Amino acid sequence: MSGSRPRYYLTTPIYYVNDVPHIGHAYTTLACDALARFMRLDGHDVRFLTGTDEHGQKVANSARAAGMDPQAFTDRVSQNFRDLTDAWNFSNDDFIRTTEARHIRSCQAIWRKLVAAGEIYLGSYAGWYAVRDEAFYGENELQDGPDGKKVAPSGAEVEWVEEPSYFFKLSAWQDRLLAFYQANPDFILPESRRNEVISFVKGGLRDLSVSRTTFKWGVPVPDDPDHIIYVWLDALTNYITAVGYPETESESFQTYWPADLHMVGKDILRFHAVYWPAFLMGAGLEPPRRVFAHGWWTNEGQKISKSLGNVIDPVELVEKYGLDQVRYFLLREVPFGNDGDFNHQAMVNRMNGELANDYGNLAQRVLSMINKNCQAKVPEPGEMTGDDEGFLGSAHGLIGQVRDAMEVQAFHEGLEAVWAMIRAANGYVDAQAPWKLAKEDPARMGTVLYVLAETIRHLAILTQPFMPDASARLLDQLAVPEDARAFACLGPDHALKAGTELPKPEGVFPRYENGEKTEEGE
Ligand code: MSP
Repeated sequence: MSGSRPRYYLTTPIYYVNDVPHIGHAYTTLACDALARFMRLDGHDVRFLTGTDEHGQKVANSARAAGMDPQAFTDRVSQNFRDLTDAWNFSNDDFIRTTEARHIRSCQAIWRKLVAAGEIYLGSYAGWYAVRDEAFYGENELQDGPDGKKVAPSGAEVEWVEEPSYFFKLSAWQDRLLAFYQANPDFILPESRRNEVISFVKGGLRDLSVSRTTFKWGVPVPDDPDHIIYVWLDALTNYITAVGYPETESESFQTYWPADLHMVGKDILRFHAVYWPAFLMGAGLEPPRRVFAHGWWTNEGQKISKSLGNVIDPVELVEKYGLDQVRYFLLREVPFGNDGDFNHQAMVNRMNGELANDYGNLAQRVLSMINKNCQAKVPEPGEMTGDDEGFLGSAHGLIGQVRDAMEVQAFHEGLEAVWAMIRAANGYVDAQAPWKLAKEDPARMGTVLYVLAETIRHLAILTQPFMPDASARLLDQLAVPEDARAFACLGPDHALKAGTELPKPEGVFPRYENGEKTEEGE
């Protein structure tokens, strides 16, 4: 538990178990993982949640198509998502499944709260429903599909549904939601998405159907088991279940709620930024502090879809290029929040250019020179020039820039700041030419190599959230102890100690050449 450390609670969406995990799922969790690791290294008590969304018509249909009982089906598919967290080295603290007893209890508790608060009433629904999105749509939102059928804006086919249903009085929340967005300007990021949500809410809200009767795969409505709770109310509630709801006085709930961040894809922003805060406030709970909607990936310029057969398997991707390489690419390639295109050439360019050439080469040449010319020990720094001090000062200042970027989930900017330093360090190597100093002025060579090694220590500490394995190997090569790798150890107080023995350097950034990844770095 937190003690005096600030807490940071962040969540991924919970993934539908109708499908195998693909790059889109891995991407959302990766962004959270980098942030979770960053916050831990920055001294926070982090709680990082992911999991699977297992109820509803879509999952029930998939189970039927697989000829399986829904529980057995969800057990199997949920495991694929757990396997992904291992394959991608995700550092989540919990993995929730909506079929767990803790969650069913929590869903029924929030339902009762909403009923007691007069937010839910019984009526009947007649309208359009898209099973793929598990969402209701108004006639005015629909378009004509290719075969004359109506489709939702997402492209999902809709069907006409008529059934008794409980409703949540969403229409009464318009002004309170608008006031909430106004009072919390950073609640929805990026800003363009915030504007979309505000104009949607300004357009007027209809009461929301929150129960279904035509199938059974869901959490029963308390006291009316003919109904099951609408899958989105069920799913969103996972974020409070995992921190102990309905025990709102528990230490866990008190510590971690409200969540600091719900990370979501742009397609599911409305559920998180409109319905969810209304449900929470209706139940007397605080809304989360932020919802960030990221963009979508295409594959070589094409929309990713099963029917096009171009789904990117996240495990195969990592086998092909390496985990740290893929993690770096996805977080660096696009300004976080925008759509991005996954293409082989762009991946290889970043892997060979920015990782192997810029970062890898910097570390390799500095560590090899130390190995060769300084008896494999951290060199003794002599008197520093103003330039040396200015240079080290920039390395010390880097955390401030990266922190500012991470605060607003601008991963690409954090990485750009780190790479500006890497490029500057390579420039410093060229300008100081320590290989020449080896003969002409060994004392000065020691100072230059010390400044560079200390800079690499800063870089490797800062790249840990993005590339945990490669960064750890670099820190091993600088003999930085495990307990001196947190951001509190940046700066001069924990500087490398002259005379510390260093292991033999080896490359940590493979290249991609002639159709395959090289075994090790240059
Ligand atoms: N079960 C709901 C979420 C409930 S959260 C209370 C759901 N699940 S999902 O499995 O369909 O999608 C999960 C996430 O994957 C979404 O954030 C979605 O945006 C993301 N992606 C799916 N395809 C994607 C891409 N092609 N690119 C990037 N992310 C995409 O929605």
